Amino acid sequence: MKFGYFDDARKEYVITSPKTPLPWINYLGCESFFRLISNTGGGYAFYKDAKLLRLTRYRYNNVPSDDGGHYYYIKDGDTVWNPGWQPTQTALDSYECHHGLGYSIFKSSKNGVAAEVTTFVPIGKNCEVTSVTLTNNTAASKDLQLFSYVEFCLWNAMDDMTNFQRNFSTGEVEVKGSAIYHKTEYRERRNHYALFAVNAPVAGFDTDRDSFLGAYNGYRNPEVVFSGASKNSMASGWAPIGSHNLKVSLAPGESKNFIFILAYIENPRDDKWESRGVINKKPAEALMQEFATKAQFDASLAELSAYWNNLLSTFTVKTGDEKLDRMVNIWHQYQCMVTFNMSRSASYYESGIGRGMGFRDSCQDLFGFVHLIPDRARQRIIDIASTQFEDGSAYHQYQPLTKKGNSDIGSGFNDDPLWLIAGTAAYIKESHDFSILDEIVPFDNDESKAQTLMEHLRRSFNYTRTHLGPHKLPLIGRADWNDCLNLNCFSEEPGESFQTFGPSEGPVAESVFIAGMFVKYGREYAVLCRKKGLNDEADAAEAAVNDMIQAIYKDGWDGEWFLRAYDAFGEKVGSHECEDGQIFIEPQGFCVLAGVGLENGYAQKAMDSVEAKLETKYGVMILQPAYKDYHLNLGEVSSYPPGYKENAGIFCHNNPWVSIAETCLGHGNRAFSLYKKICPAYVEEISEIHRTEPYVYSQMVAGRDAKNHGEAKNSWLTGTAAWTFVNASQHIIGVRPDYDGLVIDPCIPDTITDLTITRKFSGAVYNIHVDNSAKSQYGVKKMIVNGKEVSGCTVPFEEGVTEYNVEITM
Ligand code: BGC
Ligand code: NOJ
Repeated sequence: MKFGYFDDARKEYVITSPKTPLPWINYLGCESFFRLISNTGGGYAFYKDAKLLRLTRYRYNNVPSDDGGHYYYIKDGDTVWNPGWQPTQTALDSYECHHGLGYSIFKSSKNGVAAEVTTFVPIGKNCEVTSVTLTNNTAASKDLQLFSYVEFCLWNAMDDMTNFQRNFSTGEVEVKGSAIYHKTEYRERRNHYALFAVNAPVAGFDTDRDSFLGAYNGYRNPEVVFSGASKNSMASGWAPIGSHNLKVSLAPGESKNFIFILAYIENPRDDKWESRGVINKKPAEALMQEFATKAQFDASLAELSAYWNNLLSTFTVKTGDEKLDRMVNIWHQYQCMVTFNMSRSASYYESGIGRGMGFRDSCQDLFGFVHLIPDRARQRIIDIASTQFEDGSAYHQYQPLTKKGNSDIGSGFNDDPLWLIAGTAAYIKESHDFSILDEIVPFDNDESKAQTLMEHLRRSFNYTRTHLGPHKLPLIGRADWNDCLNLNCFSEEPGESFQTFGPSEGPVAESVFIAGMFVKYGREYAVLCRKKGLNDEADAAEAAVNDMIQAIYKDGWDGEWFLRAYDAFGEKVGSHECEDGQIFIEPQGFCVLAGVGLENGYAQKAMDSVEAKLETKYGVMILQPAYKDYHLNLGEVSSYPPGYKENAGIFCHNNPWVSIAETCLGHGNRAFSLYKKICPAYVEEISEIHRTEPYVYSQMVAGRDAKNHGEAKNSWLTGTAAWTFVNASQHIIGVRPDYDGLVIDPCIPDTITDLTITRKFSGAVYNIHVDNSAKSQYGVKKMIVNGKEVSGCTVPFEEGVTEYNVEITM
């Protein structure tokens, strides 16, 4: 069952029923100001940091679901309705929500009145702008009222939700004309406030929540709206809100438009006040002038579309498969932008107050984003590396606003350091900017401890190389990619965090997954050494990688698949000898994509085992059999009920690893079939089962052991975004940026017989056509570049050439 449809021409998903199985959201903003917006108008806004600079309040785990947002109420006689259906839930005569690239549009109607509400965050501005157009489609004139509503958060979202003894007394606002200013804490250490304004004279306003709603009322039945009379309330402590009241008289056929703006405004510290207690409004007033008319609004929206069209023109494909095209050309890349911006901080599943930017997460998010805005990826690499410790280990997370490592969680996740090599290599392959390796970057944000980025990578590499266990496999520390495999934790008390309890390292527990990573990214490191002329170091790195491969063959192989780990007692994890958790997906995917086992048949065996033991119709489960009991020596992985999350869920992030591994074996059909199983556009038809948005990936789909097998959770912020885009674009379609040119090496299903690709890369445009009329799954037979045959599958750079026309026969 579907709840909408893809409009590929407009790059939108159009939701046609407000009652989606779960809120289906969109992200507005791509630089500093962000808004989460659901298909019923729910969500909230923040500036840079969802925890520290939250503009509007949101209550999680809310009842009714997704209660709270930026709302527009229309009062038409006795009927009050919202274009997004919530919060009044008045039945609408028509409803559509269009989630597009950086904007959302609601088109609804009730009793002959049509509303069109468009919201976006303008490029380069720290605000959300909303255009509301009301049209009278009846034969009689209408006297309507339009009420806006936002509820301000007192900036620190965590404190806002917990520290009521203080917060009920700190709220302050100012009102001037149609502009409402939220200025809590501005009197003391803040030099920023929020503005909520409309470009028309108001009939009234409210800034005090209880006055607006009425005692014991909710958003569903605000007293002011139903009575039609604003109270011009001034918040004093308690809960400051912003609400405008506009009287809208419409002749038959007439339309009227209003532009609302919700902004984050910052003043210089020495220019905070206009007069004692009166805030400096100059920057706010200047911004209002920029969005005073519909024409200005439209021009800014057109600028946003041009921005996205330009970004997406970097890589486009025509494969003959409509779903693949729409995912690759639009939604994969869009989701990659969002994960790059948010890491795992703010979604409808991540509260924005828990996790900042993940070290490993952000490094991986780069893979899917770096071709779009390499400069921002560069800055991100420097930010991440700046939180690394001198011994090469890393803070697991850092806060986006301060860019400082988060000491609550600390370090000890032993895969983290290697991801820095991965992210940096991906950046240089795209940009060829080797100068980044010479950047001087602090350790632990301490400038006195700064070294080149190359030195950071060296310490990453050496951290793994020097932290090996009894089988010469890497020590796991607190956990590796699988945060829940806590082999040194031994937690017995409820509430202890598996992520931080126990020692950060043990001398015995080892990870075969990190071993696979070391092979993959150790080799990347060796290549970088060679590019820097450090041949001896490159030789030594390759030797260490080869030793690691031997260690995997010797002690990391279980007979039919790769072992997962050794626990703190040296017992096997992920072996046929175990009762539960006999096989894990991570080392199968990652070892094979790193090239381990290609020479001796282990790779094929591992893939066969994945297919036989882990694959379901909804994707590949992370492990089997699911752990039925809690295991002290394994930690959080065994804490989840069978089928969920890391305990035998379909943890989407590592499905593309298996698909990529299949491409390493030349299996185009297998790779594509795995790709499709978790790809949202291919499960759109079963939205009632899948439940999350059909245009983006979710972190997890319930596995076979769970009650609701196939049900997804934690949509949007997941490493699945970057990895599936890398898989689809670089491994299946096979277009890979590289140091010496563009590699074109498709591994496609035999159903794709004709493939057209455009790729902008290193200052040139590549127009690529692949003829697969032979219905091959893998293998470039012939490549002609600008009329000349070239051997192999890399289009080499040619001085001065800005357009490459590439004809490939498979
Ligand atoms: C989740 C992981 C997550 C970790 C860190 C665990 O409860 O299962 O997926 O990465 O918490 O927040
Ligand atoms: C989610 C985390 O963000 C990610 O870093 C981790 O790899 C996965 N969970 C698996 O545990």
